[in-house]
Amino acid sequence: MDLLVVGIGELATPLGGRPLGGRAQGRLLILREAYVLVREGRIAAVGTGSPPRFEGPVLHCEGRCVTPGLVDPHTHAVFAGNRVQEFLARARGERYTGGGILTTVRATRAASEEELVQLAAPRLGRMLAQGVTTVEVKSGYGLTLADELKMLRAVRRLAEALPLTLVPTFMGAHAFPPEVPREEYVRLLVEEMLPAVAAEGLARFCDVFCDRGFYTVEEARRILEAARRLGLGLKVHADELAPVGAAELAAELRATSAEHLLHVSPEGIRALAEAGTVAVLLPGTAFLLEEPYPPARPLIEAGVPVALGTDFNPGSCPLASLPFAMSLAILKLKMSPEEVLTAATLNAAAALGLAQEVGSLEAGKKADLVVWDAATFAEIPYWMGQNLAWAVVKEGRVVLPAGGR
Ligand code: NIG
Ligand code: FE
Repeated sequence: MDLLVVGIGELATPLGGRPLGGRAQGRLLILREAYVLVREGRIAAVGTGSPPRFEGPVLHCEGRCVTPGLVDPHTHAVFAGNRVQEFLARARGERYTGGGILTTVRATRAASEEELVQLAAPRLGRMLAQGVTTVEVKSGYGLTLADELKMLRAVRRLAEALPLTLVPTFMGAHAFPPEVPREEYVRLLVEEMLPAVAAEGLARFCDVFCDRGFYTVEEARRILEAARRLGLGLKVHADELAPVGAAELAAELRATSAEHLLHVSPEGIRALAEAGTVAVLLPGTAFLLEEPYPPARPLIEAGVPVALGTDFNPGSCPLASLPFAMSLAILKLKMSPEEVLTAATLNAAAALGLAQEVGSLEAGKKADLVVWDAATFAEIPYWMGQNLAWAVVKEGRVVLPAGGR
């Protein structure tokens, strides 16, 4: 797709093909009166002043602000059923322990692949409508070989059907299935499930819930090392419920990302910085569970590249809005608007191994961008809970609003 985007009042983007940590996370390129030229779905030029001569579709932004398409690097968006009762019980003061995951496992096992696709498509559509053009989706509500494959095949079908880049992550190690002894399930993960997932090319990453009451550091190491031998990238749900040393494990294994980190230790922070592992922070979860927020400032100051995601799932975090997570990052994580934009674009792309492809507006990258009904990018988190996405461009095609602009 070719496209010329003109009349951009403010263009705001991080730069480069690598995650940005420390001071660099807060450095953006800001252009006024800018244009973006797209050839065959990729950015051919970004500039200011009068745009080049162009025969083809033109998107007039009329002074609005443009950023890269947002990237949500952590969701559990494929599932069946819901947990409204658990949500209400928590509001009455009950504490989240992760036990409700098995409620969703029962519902997801009972659903067909087609039903999972039908349930997830509108959820992902609502994310797209809020300016998200790349979404990671984890399995982990099947916990049998057949049901995990069913979830990942649903993700593959959704990726074919929707104008979104979906990144599938195998998370069979999300909980323990009640019908299988624990030792036996870890063996199944390593010897049967991971090889089957890899053979079908169904996942790009493997993630393990390494936390109190879930997988131990030793179990997680065994599973992740097996995943690495099969060519999968590594992610860790790390220290969400308690400081168990999961961030240290992510660093030791040179994982692409360590996620959640509500209870990461100072040693964990140092280890992540040294390893260059991206910290994926999910403030919506802390907000909904009324737990302490992850230590974004110490992470950034230690040089760890920080990314932001929603953690959208039916239990701990029914929040699917990345812009709302950006608002929480300003208010609760004390990040600057510049750091927040990098976290929700380039660093989130890096958490998915896609920093060379998406996450910034510069020649050569995929033409994924959002026109916001705002004069400046700081308004995206400021107008809380509102949807300012005015147009979404995916690989050079105007996909929102559906009829084009
Ligand atoms: O990221 N931490 C583990 N998993 C999810 C919660 C899943 C659920 O409650 O269904 C999370 O918070
Ligand atoms: Fe999660």
